Amino acid sequence: MINIAIMGYGVVGSGVAEVCRMNADTIRKKAGRGINIKKILDLRDFPDDPFGDRVTHRAGDIFEDPDIAIVVETIGGTGIALDLSLQALRSGKHVVTSNKELVAAHGPELMALAQQMGVSYMYEASVGGGIPIVRPLHKCLSANVIQTVAGILNGTTNYILTRMDAAGIRFDQALAEAQAKGYAEQNPTADLDGLDACRKLAILGSITLGEYIDSRKVHTEGITSIMPTDLLYAQHLQMKLKLIGRFRLLPDRRADMIVAPMLISRSHPIAVADDVNNAILVEGNALGEALFYGRGAGKLPTASAVVADVIECAMHLGRLPHLTTWAVSDRPIVRPHDECPVQALVRLHDRLPPDQIRALFGPHGAELIEAQDLHEQAWLVGQGAPLSEGQLAARLRMLDADVIGRIRLFV
Ligand code: HSE
Repeated sequence: MINIAIMGYGVVGSGVAEVCRMNADTIRKKAGRGINIKKILDLRDFPDDPFGDRVTHRAGDIFEDPDIAIVVETIGGTGIALDLSLQALRSGKHVVTSNKELVAAHGPELMALAQQMGVSYMYEASVGGGIPIVRPLHKCLSANVIQTVAGILNGTTNYILTRMDAAGIRFDQALAEAQAKGYAEQNPTADLDGLDACRKLAILGSITLGEYIDSRKVHTEGITSIMPTDLLYAQHLQMKLKLIGRFRLLPDRRADMIVAPMLISRSHPIAVADDVNNAILVEGNALGEALFYGRGAGKLPTASAVVADVIECAMHLGRLPHLTTWAVSDRPIVRPHDECPVQALVRLHDRLPPDQIRALFGPHGAELIEAQDLHEQAWLVGQGAPLSEGQLAARLRMLDADVIGRIRLFV
């Protein structure tokens, strides 16, 4: 039997306990021994929970217990979660987390400390919920130079956009549904503003390069300004509107990185992911393309990934595993946003003469498409000579009050 502790008994933490109980026999066979939840750290009590008798309010009960080998951190955020994770590692415990905010902000420090202490810091559940992506990138695809990692990395926004598109419900209704199902964070701002997807993209990019990418360097836009008419354009163009994160390796080992709502062809593999599902396309120079698809959020899918990391730790106790650390360097890894190429749908007031728009975009191309709302015209731009984000922004500034909106195309 191996003893573990869970720090943070919310949606994911209680899911971890549920999976351990539900699949105890399978886990015992895979890990080579049973997994016993010895302590649960939380501010609250859970008298009706099957594991309620394990609850403690004192972290020392975990760190000072030599029988606890593995600590699960499902607190979230970068405050107390950082402090307790550092204490757990310093106490010689393996740490397994689902906390993408913490990994994205403090990954190098936590990984370096784990290495120094001869233990593991595991974070499969931090990206893609239940989808395996962290270990596949580290291990199964390690023979490749990874050229692209792109996809739908946030279940909440995907659920909202899917429901708005398919069921025609309003944004606030779709958000309320996502919260009721436990997909959205308590404060959904990080989901809606794209920050959650951005942190996950930065984690995947860091694994890919073996170098830490600061998520704050990644241009990020959320879905809060998406209008119902934008979804009509998506339907008209045989596309879907998705919040997409994209990492593209450049020949000089910098990367183009962005998180933003994008129009993507309905036939593109990434576009199969609707509802809370995530889809992550990885392109390696030996592999070609592979798609990782599945439940990107939710209690049991995320717990599935956490418990798999616990099993991995249990199987490697006494032997040093696996996940590499991230080097921290001063080199500018993320290419300045203004230099990145872009194609977009641009919605403009209909009083502008079309010839002015064609002249404005010149060799970059401007193709008029059928407007989906009165008093506007819509153009696909950037499909000719390469158009940079900086060039597009400058042109839109010139049109200023006549710009109704613009959405990038995923290409
Ligand atoms: N709020 C996150 C999402 C949870 O919606 O994807 C999983 O990381």
